[in-house]
Amino acid sequence: MSEPIRLGVLVSGGGTNLQAILDAIREERLPARVVFVGSDNPEAKGLDRARACGVPTFVVPYREILRRFAHDPPQARPPEDFSLAEARARQRLRSEGGDPQRLDRFLASRAAAEAELLAAMRPFPFDLLVLAGFMRILSPYFIDRVNAGRNPPRIMNIHPALLPAFPGTDGYGDTFRYGCKVAGCTVHFVDYGEDTGPIIGQRAFPIEEGDTLETVRRKGLEQEWRLYPECIRLFAEGRLRTERRVWELAGGRRERTVVVIAPPAAPGAG
Ligand code: GRF
Repeated sequence: MSEPIRLGVLVSGGGTNLQAILDAIREERLPARVVFVGSDNPEAKGLDRARACGVPTFVVPYREILRRFAHDPPQARPPEDFSLAEARARQRLRSEGGDPQRLDRFLASRAAAEAELLAAMRPFPFDLLVLAGFMRILSPYFIDRVNAGRNPPRIMNIHPALLPAFPGTDGYGDTFRYGCKVAGCTVHFVDYGEDTGPIIGQRAFPIEEGDTLETVRRKGLEQEWRLYPECIRLFAEGRLRTERRVWELAGGRRERTVVVIAPPAAPGAG
């Protein structure tokens, strides 16, 4: 098995995906160790799961930081190394028709919270940052500082739908209400958009007569607990890279960054 990689994990809630990762490590299905678990929510049950395994934890009080920004703008400043022009140019979060001032405030206030997040992570060097139900959008300020131009990138997320269908916070709910006959989950690298990054792995399951939103969520989570450790393992084995693909089609040029998965190393190689 390859050398264990160091995982940083961010959670906001129950942390069942974090638990699945910790279990996969314990059962030697995943060559990794979790070096920290951070949260924006002091009540996150995922923090207890981490502590129970002796993993260091921290909380970055997003709500307070963002409130300070909303109510006390002269006091609240983005970090010194934040460039609004750069963040605006890179972000893919909002349509251009949106309110530019709101977008600027959003980018500056996120950077303020993210500077604290980066500071909290600094004592714990890591190879991969795993978002496991972390309910905050990460802005280009944070993403660029974590990735620093690496390929593969090093922030992974799990989403409760078969992307690119149903981005946003309620993937299983949106899938179920739409009347889909298949639901699923997706692990992807994080890019500058919301749930738009290059896809690493997906798992699907049928929605049957008699299923409810509750049963779809439960089946979905069970798939997530298998998929996330598998995708992290591919990263640990050095088998993931991203590639820019360009297609010239009759309707115009299409471009997309995709994940390419290398075959497993031959036994005895390396
Ligand atoms: C999961 O459904 C995941 O896809 C989404 O948030 C949920 C987190 O669940 N991003 P848990 O905290 O891991 O139990």
